[in-house]
Amino acid sequence: MKSLLLPLLASATLIAVVGWNYLSIPGVPAWSEEELTLIASLSLDSLPPLPLDPSNLVADDPAAAEFGHRLYFDTRLSSNAQVACATCHKPELMFTDGLALAVGVSIGPMHTPSLVGLAYSPWFYWDGRKDSQWAQALAPLEAKHEHATDRVQLLHLISSDAVYRDMYENVFGPLNLPAMLPESGMPEGDPQQLANWNALERETQTDISQFFANLGKAIAAFERKILPGRTRFDDYAAEVVAGSDKDDALNNSEKAGLKLFLGKGQCVTCHNGPLFTNHEFHNTGVLAVRGQMPSMGRYNGVRVSREDSFNCLGEFSDASPAECIELRFARDANDLVGALKTPTLRNISLTAPYMHGGQMADLAEVVNHYNKAPSSMLSHNEAKPLGLRIVERLQLEDFLLTLSAPLATEQKWLVAPDY
Ligand code: HEC
Ligand code: HEC
Repeated sequence: MKSLLLPLLASATLIAVVGWNYLSIPGVPAWSEEELTLIASLSLDSLPPLPLDPSNLVADDPAAAEFGHRLYFDTRLSSNAQVACATCHKPELMFTDGLALAVGVSIGPMHTPSLVGLAYSPWFYWDGRKDSQWAQALAPLEAKHEHATDRVQLLHLISSDAVYRDMYENVFGPLNLPAMLPESGMPEGDPQQLANWNALERETQTDISQFFANLGKAIAAFERKILPGRTRFDDYAAEVVAGSDKDDALNNSEKAGLKLFLGKGQCVTCHNGPLFTNHEFHNTGVLAVRGQMPSMGRYNGVRVSREDSFNCLGEFSDASPAECIELRFARDANDLVGALKTPTLRNISLTAPYMHGGQMADLAEVVNHYNKAPSSMLSHNEAKPLGLRIVERLQLEDFLLTLSAPLATEQKWLVAPDY
């Protein structure tokens, strides 16, 4: 009896001292060729230069970025003078807000996503209903629960503020105010805004919408500066890809988590490439937000993007139709019901809560969700149950925590300018 117990006790002590991970994955890491290729593809070293945005001529104009930076932090661009883009997309939280549902002038229906590295994305919003960063930036300005202002009020503000007027004209040319401009107005507002808008000449409407589009283009030029920084995972990838003997940028639990991320966890089927997103839309069986119908997701988003007057093919876009490949060839199928945009996992430790309605409080909850893969309320969950043991779930979480690092963005862009 004694002789049987002793070795058992000895190995239990060994596990306690050396650590479970070390024993469960002896000789970490033995990466296969396939895994090495995947690790390299996830590294920031594989991030290509920023894609051009042909629909925005000033996307890379420094003066436009300065102007957009100022607009981004300015609460005067809201009906109660308290809401700016930065109210919800806070630089110190990787451009999220820490809330389940965003709060602007009032509470909205969705969770605030991160803006880091978003200039690489062809589609915007959880359902991808916008096809450029500049067109996206216009929507919160006029949305009732966000900034709740409108394009006519913004024209008054920019033209009467000497600094703004200068900045605008420097980038876009003279700002001419139409005669008899009402106080407010937009095509889809409350009855007063709508009546004001409809009373304007068609040509005046177009001029005002062009001015409005230009504000979005300046904001987008600023947003292109928001880029992810080098993480411990990227250091590790560089080590193993170089075949270096030194591979200590990650500890054993994190390495085991990486292995699960690539293999048994199947995370890399959707969270792939250097931003950990395939930029596509998937149904992952996340519960609807309490009190809301489940989101139709990309199925509706693709339709809305085609109707949008600010899309790539519209009159305010700088692109030729041939350059609007994404919009013209956007996939449209029934399997997009309930499909939402795959978010980046970079800086994920700093952007809780998670999912399109902030339904999950922490990463443990997220990993448990994927482990169970519950059936979807709408259409079907593409992910399958994983059967991960508790230790594996912890390793996966440990790995996810290695994906955070300070941004590769000049400090001046991360704080409000002096007004
Ligand atoms: C009240 C909070 C709030 C304000 C103010 C706000 N946003 Fe957002 N933002 C959100 C939420 C919530 C979403 C997701 C909404 C959805 O998908 O339906 C979002 C989505 C986005 C996206 C798309 C992200 C992605 O992954 O596709 C961008 C880009 C963005 N906002 C930029 C801005 C800019 C620029 C401004 C200022 C003009 C702004 N936001 C103002 C809350 C806010
Ligand atoms: C079928 C594609 C797919 C697979 C496989 C997948 N994800 Fe996701 N992931 C998504 C989509 C889509 C969302 C957004 C869903 C939503 O908001 O409802 C998401 C959201 C997340 C989020 C929350 C991000 C945020 O900012 O809110 C985390 C964390 C995450 N996934 C981690 C993982 C991990 C870890 C795995 C592997 C166990 C995994 N994902 C597998 C597509 C996928």
